[in-house]
Amino acid sequence: MTETAHTAPGCDSAATPAYARWLRIMAALYDPFLWLGELAGMRRRRRALVDDAYGRVLEIGAGTGLNVAYYPGAVEELVLTEPEPGMRRQLSRRLERLGRAASVSGASAEQLPAADASVDTVVSTLVLCTVEDPQRALREIARVLRPDGQLLFIEHVRSTSRFFAACQDTVRRPWRAFAGGCECNRATVELMRACGFTVQASEAVWRGMPAIVHPLVIGRATR
Ligand SMILES: C[S@@+](CC[C@H](N)C(=O)[O-])C[C@H]1O[C@@H](n2cnc3c(N)ncnc32)[C@H](O)[C@@H]1O
Repeated sequence: MTETAHTAPGCDSAATPAYARWLRIMAALYDPFLWLGELAGMRRRRRALVDDAYGRVLEIGAGTGLNVAYYPGAVEELVLTEPEPGMRRQLSRRLERLGRAASVSGASAEQLPAADASVDTVVSTLVLCTVEDPQRALREIARVLRPDGQLLFIEHVRSTSRFFAACQDTVRRPWRAFAGGCECNRATVELMRACGFTVQASEAVWRGMPAIVHPLVIGRATR
């Protein structure tokens, strides 16, 4: 494993000391907090999603590395980006435990460490809800993808039910403060399309997690 440290605009660099402490606590609690959701279906979905990854793969916001074990042999090179230092530490530990070769970078999704048209697969699971500037991140993803490349994603999104979306709007601020910047009401597929991606997605429910993040979209986007 190789690690390169980058400053992540809009992430740890901008956090107040108290918020940075909270992010460190969140990093330590992340896997236990997701445990039930992983058992209730997310683990299976991660495996199925990354099974389609191939070639040079760049995962954004890799967190503690919950996808890492499932990358198939068709992956020639794995680059994991994660701007939050606490998450990145856990990610490095998981890579060591699994004996998986990958390079780890602290880059944010808004400033990816890859040349234009150099990546076959970008993976994003539960990240586009949290990046500060999702349009900029999507433009970056489009920049680094080869013309026939793919973005594989699992994201929790704004509900299609008007009532439930209104509930998400209501709790958006406290949830955002609790969940490290996560916007529970973000219409991510619409943003992908607005940024020029062709999107094939199916809907699912993130069981075992708070209702506010139940609506999931899972799929593949191409340029
Ligand atoms: C809900 S966690 C998802 C982690 C992991 N992808 C997973 O599936 O478990 C969101 C992650 O996005 C990261 N993140 C936050 N802002 C980001 C940004 N601007 N660019 C890339 N990742 C970011 C967070 O540090 C965190 O690790």
